[in-house]
Amino acid sequence: MKKPKPLVEIAGTGRFLPDNVVTNEDLAKSLNTSDEWIRSRTGIRERRIAPDDMGAADLGTGAARKAMRSAGVEPGEIDVLIVATATPDRLLPSTACDIQARLGASNAVAFDLVAACSGFIYGLTLAEGYLTAGRGEVALVVSAEKMSSIVDWEDRSTCVLFGDGGGAAVVRPAGGSGRGILSSHLRSDGNLSELLVRPAGGALHPMSHAALDEKTHLVRMKGREVFKHAVRNMAEACDHALQAAGLTPDDVDLLIPHQANMRIIESTAKHAGIDMDRVYVNVERYGNMSSATIPIAIDEALEKRLIVPGSNVLLVAFGAGLTWGAMALRW
Ligand code: COA
Repeated sequence: MKKPKPLVEIAGTGRFLPDNVVTNEDLAKSLNTSDEWIRSRTGIRERRIAPDDMGAADLGTGAARKAMRSAGVEPGEIDVLIVATATPDRLLPSTACDIQARLGASNAVAFDLVAACSGFIYGLTLAEGYLTAGRGEVALVVSAEKMSSIVDWEDRSTCVLFGDGGGAAVVRPAGGSGRGILSSHLRSDGNLSELLVRPAGGALHPMSHAALDEKTHLVRMKGREVFKHAVRNMAEACDHALQAAGLTPDDVDLLIPHQANMRIIESTAKHAGIDMDRVYVNVERYGNMSSATIPIAIDEALEKRLIVPGSNVLLVAFGAGLTWGAMALRW
C-alpha cells in the first residue's frame, strides 16, 4: 500500500493535571455508588478534580507551556492557537484568547473549537489545514477541560465518569523524514445531539432560575445509547484512517483511544484488530477528561517510550455532537 507523505508533524507535547485525586471511595461517601460498580462498568478508579479557582485556561496554559518547551518554541512564534474545550471559562470571549494572553502569544490568531471529546483530533486536523495553506509555521493545539464544573454531582450515572485536565501539542510543517500526520477521518451527526447535552445556559435557554432548579445547565447523557454509537463509530473511524494511511492493524505500534470507559476501549481495539498490549490506557487514573484525554495519553506514552521515532500511532475519539474521528501518525 502506498503511504501518504505527511504535511505536518507534532513537534512537542505537554500535559497538566490538577493535584487533587478523588477516588471512587471518596465519591461513595456522598453518593449512592460503590468502587465495585464504577470499576466494573467503566474501569475508572480515580480522577483529578481542579480546585474552584482553577479554570480551563489554567489547565490549558499549563499544558501549553510544557508543549512549547518540549518543541523549543517561543510564545511569539505561535501563528495559530486552537483550544478544544467543552468547558470554556466564560461563554464570551473564547478560552483561547485567555490562554493566548497568559502565554504572551501575541502574534497568534486564537479561537475555541467545540467538538467535545473529539476536539483534539479535530484541532490537529485544523492545524494541518492552516499550516498547509501557508498561513503560518507554528500551530498550538490545546485541550482544556474542567469537566467537574459541568456535571451534576448528585447524578451518579454521569458524575463518576469525568475528570479534569489539560493537554497540548505544537504542530509544525513536516521535516520531510516521513514523520507526521498520515491521515485524518472526521465525522459528526447532529441528529444525535440529544444523547449527550447541556440543554440550558446558551442562547436558546439562557441561564434562569428554572434552569438552575432543574439543573438543565449541566450534562445529561443517555449512557447506553452513547456507548453503542461510540463503539460502532470509533471502530469505523479506525478502519478509514488506517486505510487512508496505507496501514494495516498489524502496522499500528500504539492505539490511543479516547479514554471514556474501559469497555468501550476494549471493544474499539477488538473491532480495529489491535491487541490490548498495543493500546494505551489511563482511564483508571483520570476518568474521562473529554478532549484532553488523547494529548495527555500521548504525552505519557512518549515519556514511557511507548512511542519512539518511527512508531505508527492511531488516535481515535468520540463525543457529544455526536462527533468522532481517527488519525494515523508516524512519529
Ligand atoms: N453507581 C451505582 N449504580 C449506578 C450508578 C453508579 N454510579 N450509575 C447508574 N447506576 C445504576 C442505574 O441507576 C441503574 O439502576 P436500576 O437498574 O436500578 O435502574 C443501573 O445502575 C444500570 O444503569 P445503566 O445506565 O443501564 O448502566 P450501564 O450498564 O449502561 O452503565 C454507563 C452506565 C454510564 C457506565 C454506560 O452506559 C456507559 O459507559 N456509557 C457510555 C458513557 C460515556 O462514555 N460517555 C462519554 C462519551 S464521550
